[in-house]
Amino acid sequence: MDKKELIRSILELKQQRNAVIVAHNYQIDDVQALADVIGDSFALSKYCASSPRDVIVFCGVHFMAESAKILSPQKTVLLAEIQAGCPMADMVNVEDLRAMKRDHPHAAVVCYINTSAAVKAECDICCTSSNAVKVIQSLAEEEIIFVPDKNLGDYVAKKVPEKRMIIWDGFCVTHHRVTLEEVQKAKEAHPDALVLVHPECRPEVVEPADFVGSTRQIIDFAAASKERKFIIGTEMGVLYSLKKGNPEKTFYLLSPGLICPNMKKTRLESVYNALKEMRYAIELEEEIIIKARTTLERMLKVE
Ligand code: 13P
Ligand code: SF4
Repeated sequence: MDKKELIRSILELKQQRNAVIVAHNYQIDDVQALADVIGDSFALSKYCASSPRDVIVFCGVHFMAESAKILSPQKTVLLAEIQAGCPMADMVNVEDLRAMKRDHPHAAVVCYINTSAAVKAECDICCTSSNAVKVIQSLAEEEIIFVPDKNLGDYVAKKVPEKRMIIWDGFCVTHHRVTLEEVQKAKEAHPDALVLVHPECRPEVVEPADFVGSTRQIIDFAAASKERKFIIGTEMGVLYSLKKGNPEKTFYLLSPGLICPNMKKTRLESVYNALKEMRYAIELEEEIIIKARTTLERMLKVE
């Protein structure tokens, strides 16, 4: 099938299955162009909690599709590409988290959305990069266990100094790779550009940035800004919306390493096969769904 035919077949199948295609901002351009909804982790969770369709085809990574299933357990949630995982989410497991909880029995346990459903089921509340500060400010406890991203944890700890944060030693292999030297070089090459970064970057990269936010917040900031040049410190997939929405502005990727191989696994063929074969359906234990839903819903109530 050529590309045109493939897209036509996907749209037909989508209709037949009463499905919606959702895609994260890091997906390849073809998948973003095809999707009904594009967004950051928070927006996609919110959408999936109230989607009117029977089937959700998730173009993203495993924990995102799990979150969709937790929030819409009666729906069929398909992860378009089964091999698309998140190495950071795999850096925390239930056993080790339980040990940390035993060492800090009075702490509130906050998980970044980049965690498995089983880990979410062990936590009090979830957060994303767009609301982590607000979520932690909303808690009565002074002591906070934060898993698994040490860079996001460090960013939040600086914003909420009244809390005592116990931060897991995880990181995003893609964002953690970016160095201060790369920031300095990019600023030298484009002195009139603003630097916009994701809080999954190292503290020394976040510190000199002009704006720090989730993928959606970076896209919205660039659209609203009067400036015309931006150095982008997050995965290169965001360039799709940035360029499409702002043809008069210029965007420079902060580092050539800003590519998440897992986010790039989903192709148009993956979406076609998902709808045709109804694969790969996310299945979770009832008990995990109930506990993890409380963790996610508590986050959705913080606004
Ligand atoms: P956002 O919440 O900004 O979409 O980020 C998700 C993610 O995996 C970043 O690497
Ligand atoms: Fe996970 Fe990083 Fe890829 Fe996001 S960019 S999905 S945190 S590995």
